[in-house]
Formats: sequence, structure tokens, C-alpha cells
Amino acid sequence: MPVLSRLSAYAGNPIEDTDELAAKLKKEGRKIIKLNQGNPTAIFPTPKYIIDAYVSALKEGKTGYSFHAGIPELRQAVADRQNRLYDADFGLEDVIITQGVSESISFINSTFVDPGSRAVLLRPYYPTYLTFLKTVGGVPLFADYSEKEGFKFNPDSLEKALKKERKMPKFMIFSNPCNPTGTVMRRDELKEVVDIMNDHGIFLISDEIYDEIVFNGAKFTSISEVAKGTKYAIIGGASKNFDATGFRIGYMIVPEKDKTSIDVNRKIRDYAKMRLSSNTTAQYAFASALENRKEHEKAIRGMVDKIKDRVNRSCEVINEGKHMQVVQPNGAFYLLPKIDMKNLRLKNDFDVVQKLLLEEGVQVSRGSGFGAPDHIRIVALAPEDILELAIRKIDKFFVKHSK
Ligand SMILES: Cc1ncc(COP(=O)(O)O)c(C=O)c1O
Repeated sequence: MPVLSRLSAYAGNPIEDTDELAAKLKKEGRKIIKLNQGNPTAIFPTPKYIIDAYVSALKEGKTGYSFHAGIPELRQAVADRQNRLYDADFGLEDVIITQGVSESISFINSTFVDPGSRAVLLRPYYPTYLTFLKTVGGVPLFADYSEKEGFKFNPDSLEKALKKERKMPKFMIFSNPCNPTGTVMRRDELKEVVDIMNDHGIFLISDEIYDEIVFNGAKFTSISEVAKGTKYAIIGGASKNFDATGFRIGYMIVPEKDKTSIDVNRKIRDYAKMRLSSNTTAQYAFASALENRKEHEKAIRGMVDKIKDRVNRSCEVINEGKHMQVVQPNGAFYLLPKIDMKNLRLKNDFDVVQKLLLEEGVQVSRGSGFGAPDHIRIVALAPEDILELAIRKIDKFFVKHSK
């Protein structure tokens, strides 16, 4: 009898597919340009005022388990931030603190999904929406962004997917700004999503982990601004906006406005009880980061200005080449160029990513892991000269492998 469960076959993360190979190459003395993981903290040190708050919390002995749903100071601070930025009306009870947004995604799937349950993902999607879903036996239903229209949400594809499927999906999840495309949904697009969810009575989960990393004049709209009447949850956290990926602090806001939402909120807390607590010291540090608006404004402005330049310059360099074309992002820090595979002597994006790492020492992620085969995802956080060097190496690699 096999030891491993059948569903465990879906565990893993395509973003980290090549990490073992990269580690081996590094050990052999090769220099690797790592552009596969969206880890801002590896490039921009976590702001000092947040580190100081962490150190103070440690010194004050705040190192035990916290209440399973999080310390009240942080839950209130999360609600206050959302209310201030998006004119919402949340209270402490609506907020549950998790160990990163990753744990929120895990809890969502455990809460909603029985084997065979359906969930809608907008494609290209963030990979763990799919892997967590599949590890609990769920079945994805895909709707698409249209690359031809700058990765604009395509409502017809969502209506079509829902019409074709006899089983009503339990929830839909998407990220805005989007990982991996970097696009920011316009308010009218979001309203279309909400209308469709309302028509079909589907619970909507908006992953807003990049809501402050928006540039080039784009305007971010939170689902809480347009989802009046819809059953929804928001997920976000410390990793990106607050540049503290290693803190492992995320949150879920599940407004307790109707019976379904109350049930979801309570069940998420039951899952939180099972793992007792999230990082208590980091919760205190994040609470003071949320309260220190002046320092945060300075830090986020400085980081977003740099990210904007790095993303924009990378786009220019990519689009100068012959073998890749990329849609201009206005948020997050990812680029998802399409590769002209038919003119290359390479099998697929998996082949591209492996050989690119071996031959040029550039580590990116394969698009197929995000539901976008024939693409690669590049993290545009490194300084411009490094990004430019990496993209020119990718171009050289494609020229070498062209037909
Ligand atoms: C869209 C999206 N959601 C969730 C996560 C996970 O974030 P966390 O570090 O809070 O677990 C990421 C990380 O890259 C992400 O891009």
C-alpha cells in the first residue's frame, strides 16, 4: 500500500521548481541571477521602524502563543487600515490573523471544499490557489484574463465557464493587483466580477496583498468598495506592502454581514485554533507598522518608486527583443512575457526555464505553473542593471535556440 496520500501528489510550488538545481549550481561556483521568487525583503531591507517594533516586542517577552485569531491590537489595526483606505466599516471581529496569506489560502480551501467541490480561478492565477485546492480534492473551474487586451478580465469566459459546469462553485479567488501579470483591475471590471458572483451566489475572495504597490497612474479598488451585497472575504498581509516576508503574517477579513459569512468566519477560526497561534512577536511588530502611518508612507513610496522604474525598464528591454513580448504591468512586481515558442528549438516553458538556468544562470518561473504555458514569469525587484543584464542573457539564450 502506498504511504503517501493520492492528493499529496498535488503538493508543491512551481515557483520553486528549480531551487534545488540553482542551489547545486551555486555550490559548483556558478553565479545565479535569482528572479523566480517575489521576495521584496531580499532586495529592500524591512524598514527600521518595523524591525525596532519587533525587537521591542521580543524584549518585552511577547513570545508566547497568542489568541488563535490574533492579538486584538493587530486585528483592530487591520480593520482600521481597511476602513481608512477604502471607506469600509469593519471591526475587530471581522479580522483573523494567519501565518502569511499562504495560510489564509489553505484555510479557505479547507473551509469550503469537499472532494469534488468546484472553485473558480481567474487564469493566469497565483499557483497555490490551485495546489491548495487540489490537495483537498477540489476541482478548478477557469475563467480568463485576455492577454490581447492587456490581461483585462474577460467576463464572457467566466459566464461560459459557469454555464458549462453543472456543479455550483463554492468560491472564486483572484489576486488584484495580479500575480503573475501585474495588472490592476479597473473598478468597472471589478463590478462585473461582483455582478456575476451575485447572480450565481458565489462567495468571492479578493487577494489584495499588493494593494499599495500600484503605479503608472493606475488606481486600485478594493472589493470592499464595490461588493455591497456580495458575500466576500479579503486577504492581505505584511509580506509585500510592509516588506516583511519572513514575518509570516497575513490576515483575512470576513465581514460578518450574513449567515454564510458568519459561518465562514467561525470555521476559519476553528482552523486557526488547530495551529494554536501565528507568530506573536511579529503580530506586535505588524500592529505598530500599521499604526505608524508616517513612517509607512515614507517606506512604501520609496519602494514603489523603485519598483515602478524597474518594472518599466524591464518591459522596454523585453519588448526590444524578438522572442518575447510583455503586457505592461501597473502593479505588484511581476512580468509575464509570452515566448514565441514556435520559432524556438525548445520543447515548452519548462524546457526554457531549466536550460536558461543551466546555460545562462538566470532563474525565472515557468508560466505553465500559473496557467499560462509558453510564458515565463520574471520578478522585477532587482536593481535595473541586474534586470537588464538578465533580460539580455534571456534574449541571447533565445537567439541561440532559435530555428
Ligand atoms: C497573490 C499572492 N497571494 C499570496 C501570497 C503569499 O503571501 P504570504 O507571504 O503572505 O504567505 C503571495 C506571495 O507571493 C502572492 O503573490
